[in-house]
Amino acid sequence: MSDHKYSLVPHPVPRVETQFRRIVTALPVPESLPILDRLARYEPVSMQGQPPVVWDRAEGFQVWDRWGNCWIDWSSCVLVANAGHGRAEICNALKACIDKPLLATYVFPHEARADLCEMLAQTTPAGLDKVFLLSTGSEATENAIKLARTYGVRKHGPRKHVIVSFEGAFHGRTLGAQMIGGMPSQKEWIVRLPEGFVQLPFPDGFRCRETRFEGFIEALDRLGIGPGDVAGVITESYQGIGPNFLPDRYARDLGAWCRRHDVVLIMDEVQAGFGRTGRLYCWEHYDLVPDLICCGKGITSSLPLAAVIGRNDIMNLYPPGSMTSTHSASPLPVTAAIESLRLIRDEGLVEHAASLGREVLAPRLEALRGRFPAAIGFAPSRGLVGGLLLVKPGARDPDPEAALAINEACFRRGVLMFAPVGIGGGCVKISPPLVTPAEALAEACDVLDEACAEVLA
Ligand SMILES: Cc1ncc(COP(=O)(O)O)c(C=O)c1O
Repeated sequence: MSDHKYSLVPHPVPRVETQFRRIVTALPVPESLPILDRLARYEPVSMQGQPPVVWDRAEGFQVWDRWGNCWIDWSSCVLVANAGHGRAEICNALKACIDKPLLATYVFPHEARADLCEMLAQTTPAGLDKVFLLSTGSEATENAIKLARTYGVRKHGPRKHVIVSFEGAFHGRTLGAQMIGGMPSQKEWIVRLPEGFVQLPFPDGFRCRETRFEGFIEALDRLGIGPGDVAGVITESYQGIGPNFLPDRYARDLGAWCRRHDVVLIMDEVQAGFGRTGRLYCWEHYDLVPDLICCGKGITSSLPLAAVIGRNDIMNLYPPGSMTSTHSASPLPVTAAIESLRLIRDEGLVEHAASLGREVLAPRLEALRGRFPAAIGFAPSRGLVGGLLLVKPGARDPDPEAALAINEACFRRGVLMFAPVGIGGGCVKISPPLVTPAEALAEACDVLDEACAEVLA
């Protein structure tokens, strides 16, 4: 399932020319094959999991290659380009930083770092005022579990060390991030998982029918773990392969349970943050307040930057010099983040995502599910993130082949989606930049309709 590759044999495809899309060559483009061949020769095969389009230019909600083709982007570069690709405001601020020049500072102070930390602290409730800047989402989740465990053990003793996460979760690809991940196939390489990291069923209501919070307590009980053992709970605000959201009551009860037992609640917003779901942070949909928030991806709409934002007492556990990283708060990503946050705020992109989701994406996905009830098991969405979960007819087993075929059929028609991990357990994942106009979103939904008809009819 995880070793699928897209065909590298050029196939003629029908010409497409609309206001938003243009496909005028065979795909993959024959002239692009030498580039794809060199990548195949010099990179690990793991890098070949995405549709074979050689990106030349990406602007707003569109991606171009060098050979005249243009796609409506439904990938946002794996949920990075929230404020749109290649925004002039971000490019100009980066050019100014380059012209100074100021390219690296390690942990020596620079002014933009103060600006960004202040801006981020102002996006969260009072008391969550500390911001630690890193480079990747995996670093952020690793740092959060380290902080949670340090807090539990120092305050309550070594018994309070367990980190609880969820089945199906994705928190990154480094060792700690994979230990809290919930996809067994991704962590076979670890062989012997250390004690103190457990995953409980995620209450998606589809594959796991138990959506009451009592299910969480019972699952912990079965493992012989009580609240006195738990240092932290980490969950994505929605699980990416879905997207699967927490049921409201479950989220509220989880927040209250963590508060009652002095368990650090970590919301992983690496994918869900910065307007994606129609709120600045997805956890704002729930009646809870996290202790730590992990951010990444859409924080800059471009360059690599991540952050942990959190409670002052937890964030201050490590003394000067002992919780840093060489590229923490590097000036260029920091500059990009400041401009991206301004664009998201000044252009009302959070509200735009909420209304387009409500008025276009959610009804179109629901309509598709109504049309193909045996093949589309679930069509969840919120704001500008959505998915189709493809299932084998009459079953709840994922159908990765159907998901891949739909992804490819959209690619040939000029709508570009990324393929989630191993085509995501049968998930067609939809995540347009938040600047996508309603007409372009509707046009891409028409393409998805055609692709589903071709594959599922
Ligand atoms: C929810 C979530 N957490 C963490 C990560 C890891 O981020 P990165 O790939 O930047 O390390 C991802 C990446 O997809 C993610 O979706």
